[in-house]
Amino acid sequence: MSEEKPEINFSKLPFLNNNLELEKRVEDLLERLTLNEKFKLCAGRRWWYTKPLRRLGMKSFAMHDGPHGVRVDTEGKIQSTYFPSTICRAATWNPELSEKFGIAIAQEVRDVGAHMLLAPGINIQRTPLCGRTFEYQTEDPYLNKKLAVAVVKGIQSQRIAACVKHFICNNQESNRFTVSSEVSERALQEIYFPAFKAAVKEADAWSIMSSYNKINGIYGSEHHHLLRKVLMNEWGFKGFVVSDWGATNRTTSTESCINAGLTLEMPTLSKYFPSKMRIAFNEGKFTEETLNDNVKRLLRIMFLTGLFDEVSTLPQGSRNTREHQILARKIAEEGMVLLKNEGDLLPLNMDKLRKIAVIGPNANIQTFLGGGSSTNFPPYEITPLEGLKQKCKEKIEIIDSPAMADVTIFFAGLRHIKGMDAEGDDRNSFALPPEQVDLIKKTIKENSNTIVVMIAGTSVSMIEWINEVPAVLQAWYGGMETGNASSAILFGDVNPSGKLPISFPKMLADSPAHVSERTFPGDEKVFYEEGIFVGYRHFDTKNIEPLFPFGHGLSYTNFTYENLMLSKEKLTKDEILTISVDIMNSGEYPGSEVVQLYIQDVESSVERPLKELKGFKKVYLKPGERVTITFEIDKSDLSFYSESHGKWIAEKGNFNILIGDSSRDIRLQTGFEYLG
Ligand code: GLC
Repeated sequence: MSEEKPEINFSKLPFLNNNLELEKRVEDLLERLTLNEKFKLCAGRRWWYTKPLRRLGMKSFAMHDGPHGVRVDTEGKIQSTYFPSTICRAATWNPELSEKFGIAIAQEVRDVGAHMLLAPGINIQRTPLCGRTFEYQTEDPYLNKKLAVAVVKGIQSQRIAACVKHFICNNQESNRFTVSSEVSERALQEIYFPAFKAAVKEADAWSIMSSYNKINGIYGSEHHHLLRKVLMNEWGFKGFVVSDWGATNRTTSTESCINAGLTLEMPTLSKYFPSKMRIAFNEGKFTEETLNDNVKRLLRIMFLTGLFDEVSTLPQGSRNTREHQILARKIAEEGMVLLKNEGDLLPLNMDKLRKIAVIGPNANIQTFLGGGSSTNFPPYEITPLEGLKQKCKEKIEIIDSPAMADVTIFFAGLRHIKGMDAEGDDRNSFALPPEQVDLIKKTIKENSNTIVVMIAGTSVSMIEWINEVPAVLQAWYGGMETGNASSAILFGDVNPSGKLPISFPKMLADSPAHVSERTFPGDEKVFYEEGIFVGYRHFDTKNIEPLFPFGHGLSYTNFTYENLMLSKEKLTKDEILTISVDIMNSGEYPGSEVVQLYIQDVESSVERPLKELKGFKKVYLKPGERVTITFEIDKSDLSFYSESHGKWIAEKGNFNILIGDSSRDIRLQTGFEYLG
C-alpha cells in the first residue's frame, strides 16, 4: 500500500523550531511520519545508526561504545582517550570525578559526530568470575547509584545520551544469550534496581539498554513488566529502550517487543524488519498508539541530543586532548587501591634506591583492546614499565633480576582474553595462571622486598602468596595513563585513596554466588539464591572473613575519627537525622579519606544484612587538618522491601550508625531509635 508522502516546506516546520517546547516538537514530527517511516525508525542500521529519513531532514542517530572510551571503528583509525576501566573509576568513590569523566567522554562522542554513548554499564558485581567485572562498578547498590547518577549527568550535560546498561540482571557472561536470571522481587528492589532507578529518576537517563538474558523467564527486550510497568510507569522513564545487539533474536515475536516497550532493535535484526512489523500491525497484534509511544521516545532524545540542530549550536566536542588524558590519569591515580603495605615499604624513596627489579607478565602490556565492546584505540598507552622508566630515568637502574635489586615490583594479573577479563565468557578460574603464581613465589624467595601490582579487573586468588608479600597495589586496568599513575603512587607523588568497590574473597567458595552450579553459572536458569546477600552483605551475615573487605583501601597517612554525634536519639517517619563526625589527618602525608556510613537494623521481622552502606564522603586533608563531615538519613535509609506488603517498609526499633574506613574497619558507632 503506497503511502502519501506530502512534500515538505522545511522553513515552516514546527518540529524544527527550537523555540517550540519539546513535546510539541515531538508530536509535530510524529504526525508527519508515515506508518512505514515509524517502522523504519525502530530498526537499527548497520551497527551504530538509525535509518535517516531524508524527506523530513532527519539524519541517522549515531551511537558508539564504550564505557572506557569512544570506539567508532575496529581498526583504530579514529583514536580516543582510553579512560580507566569502570571498576577503577568506581574505586575512586568520587562522584564528582565520575561526573567529570561523563563530561569528557561525551565531548569525545560529540567530536566523532555521534549522539549516544553505550555506557555506563552498571550491572551489580554478583560474582568475581563475571568476564565483564572490569566494565561494571560495584557490588553495593548505594555506591552503584551514586556513581551511575554522576556519570549520566556528566554525559547528558553535553547533550549526548547516556545508554545505561544492561537492564537487567546481566551479571554473568555464561550463556548470556539464553540464561534466565531467577531473582526474587526483594533482591531486584534492594540490589539490582536502585542504580537503574536512580539513573532514571535522579539523572533522567535518555536511554536504557535491554539485556540479552531472561529475567525470571522473560527476555529483557520483551519484558513488559520490567520495561512498561516498572521502568516507564513506575519510574517515569521518558527515554527509549534499545536492545543489546542481537538481543531480540530469541524473543517471542515482533509484537511482544513492541508492546513491552522496546523502541529500537539493534543488529542483528530479527523482529523489527518493517515487513514483519507491518504484518503484526495488520493482524492487530499491536496498536499504532503503542508504536507511537515507542517512536516518540526516540524522537524526544533525537531533539535533546540536537539531531536537527546545527552542530555549532551544540556543546562543543573535543577528543584526545591533554585535558582528557590528565583526567584519565587522575581517575587511575584515585582508583588504584593500596591493599597491603607492611613496614611501610611504600612509598619508595627515590634517593635510597639504586636498583629496582621490574618483572611479571603485566609489566609491559597494553590493555586498550578491552576484551570486547569496551575496546577503544588511544593515541598512546603508558605501560607500567614505561611509567617506571620515565619516573626513574638515570636515578635508579631498572633490572630484571630480583636477587640483584633493592626492591622488586611484580606486575601480576589478568588479560583481556577469553576466560579472563573479557566479554562473552566468564573467567574459567578464580586463580591466577599457575606459572604466574610460581613466579611470584620464586620472586619472593629471591627478594623479600617484593611489591605486587595487580593489573586485573576483578579479585583473584592471592592466598598462595599474600602472607609473604609486604605490599600489594590493586591497579585494575588504569587506562592510557596506567604507567604514570602506578609510578606516581609507588613513589609517593600521589597518596593512594582508592577503596574496594567489591569484596575480595579468600577463596571462590566464600563468594555468595558460588554455592552450587545452580547459583553460578546455572544452565538454562541461574538462581540468585543469595537474594539480597550479595558481596559484603553475605560475608557479614555468614561471618566469613574476606581477604580484603568492601570499602578497604590504605593510605600513606593515617586518619582518626572522633566526635560521632546524632542530631536526635529518636527519629519519626517524617524527620531527618543528621550525623556528624570529625576526621583528622593524623599522619605525615596529605591525602584523601573515604568516610563510609553504614546502617544496621538491630532487630527486624525479616533477615537483613548486618550493615548496609547509606552514605560516604571523600575528603582531602593536609597533615594535622581536621574536618567535620555530616550525613543526613531518613526513613528511606532504614527501609527494606517487604514482598508480603509489596512495598518498602521501615520498622520501628533500634538502629546503629556505623562510621568506618571500610565495611570491616568500623571506627565509631552509635544508636538511635526509629519511632515510625
Ligand atoms: C555488546 C554488549 C553491549 C555493547 C553492544 C554494542 O554485545 O553487550 O554492552 O554496547 O553489544 O557493541
